[in-house]
Amino acid sequence: MTNTYHEATKHSYWSVRRNPNYLDWSKQPSPFKVYPEDYPFIPFDLSNSLHRFFYLLGGVNAKKVYPGVEYYLRIIPSAGALYPTEIYLQIRNVEGMKDGIYHLSIAENGLRLLYELDSNEGVEYYFEDKRLVDGIIVLYSAIYYRSSWKYKNRAFRYCLLDAGHALGALEMASLWYEHAYYILYNFDKLALNEKFGFANREFFLSSGVVGVRTKEVAKNFAMELPYVEGTYTFEENALIWQAYLDTLQLHGCKKDFRFPHLMFEKNRLHEAVMQRRSIREFASEAIKSEQLEFVLKTMQDAIPSDCDEEVKIWYVVNRVENITPGIYLDGKLIKEGDFSQKVGYLCLEQALGSQSAVTFFLTSSGKNYQPLYQKAGHIGHRCYIASEYLGLGCSGIGAYYDDEVREFLDTEDMVLYALAIGS
Ligand SMILES: Cc1cc2nc3c(=O)[nH]c(=O)nc-3n(C[C@H](O)[C@H](O)[C@H](O)COP(=O)(O)O)c2cc1C
Repeated sequence: MTNTYHEATKHSYWSVRRNPNYLDWSKQPSPFKVYPEDYPFIPFDLSNSLHRFFYLLGGVNAKKVYPGVEYYLRIIPSAGALYPTEIYLQIRNVEGMKDGIYHLSIAENGLRLLYELDSNEGVEYYFEDKRLVDGIIVLYSAIYYRSSWKYKNRAFRYCLLDAGHALGALEMASLWYEHAYYILYNFDKLALNEKFGFANREFFLSSGVVGVRTKEVAKNFAMELPYVEGTYTFEENALIWQAYLDTLQLHGCKKDFRFPHLMFEKNRLHEAVMQRRSIREFASEAIKSEQLEFVLKTMQDAIPSDCDEEVKIWYVVNRVENITPGIYLDGKLIKEGDFSQKVGYLCLEQALGSQSAVTFFLTSSGKNYQPLYQKAGHIGHRCYIASEYLGLGCSGIGAYYDDEVREFLDTEDMVLYALAIGS
């Protein structure tokens, strides 16, 4: 099925040249949303494992300093380092925490308590299954202007991919914390957008549950939040807002709560999460076939959610020991050949695509655009973490010539994301 928004935001050789992307630096959005100080603040104590779990959902893990500017990089990668994703948590019956709704304040490295829950109140009221969750519900939203400032109409794709990476970070944090998680896409996002005072500038996309259902049913909660700035330079993008509305309703969702069997050792996983960065240049060296196998297996494992869509993982082998170069799908060689130069061209002439050991393309023909695109981001996150775990480099690639990639792979699917790995 074709998605109107997706069709309208394809890159092509000519579109990129006809509409070069000029940035208005005076309009550069803030990457942080900070609630006023009247909301109680809980700073993270990273020796406390619960606090560390919260931090692993998306905190800052590196700082870069250039003459006159400092900027902060995070646990989660983000297209253009623009960080449209915001994270809210509902916490119930968790030792050491008040029952309430919190904002994960990345700038302040802690939680702000936005609302204290009365008994039986909760966000579950807006979900399909309204039973209370004892534990944590993580809610993911996007402040789209942070990304549309740079990427214009295509930014909705990046908001979805970034949210998917955040879901991937939740998975890694849960693995480390030794608690199960699952993803819920089916909830009344519009009602919650309103309740959180988002003023059509921010929108919910997904949620993750780390907790257990009780028997009681949630009632609505009386929270009233003011609008809080998340950019300071907001400009509306009608196409993105419409795309959000058009893809809100989910159709014929397949629930799949199978749990993945990710093979990470806990301490090394934590190290990989903390050290993860996007590689900027590869040395064009071959990797081992076992390394590709591990990364691929991690990417292919189940993702538990209430709206699972098939995302195909194509990969182009440029240089892997003992593996024939060519295009692969599901472990099968589709077309033999050295396509390294071609793939670099397809990724908007980025050398990452040609110097990599392997370049992945994620595609789908699914109906539910928001879940399937976030799933692609989630798979991308696994690619990053598995690569880092093995000491390999990885980078997400959001820019590619859509139709030429489809032609290259010989597929009618939508092309969602590309990723390059190597050393
Ligand atoms: C959805 C997505 C698309 C990206 N696209 C590109 C890309 O086309 N080219 C590139 O060099 N880096 C790309 N990146 C990498 C980002 O630039 C990088 O994540 C960001 O600068 C933050 O740095 P870090 O990943 O090292 O934390 C992408 C990342 C994401 C999550």
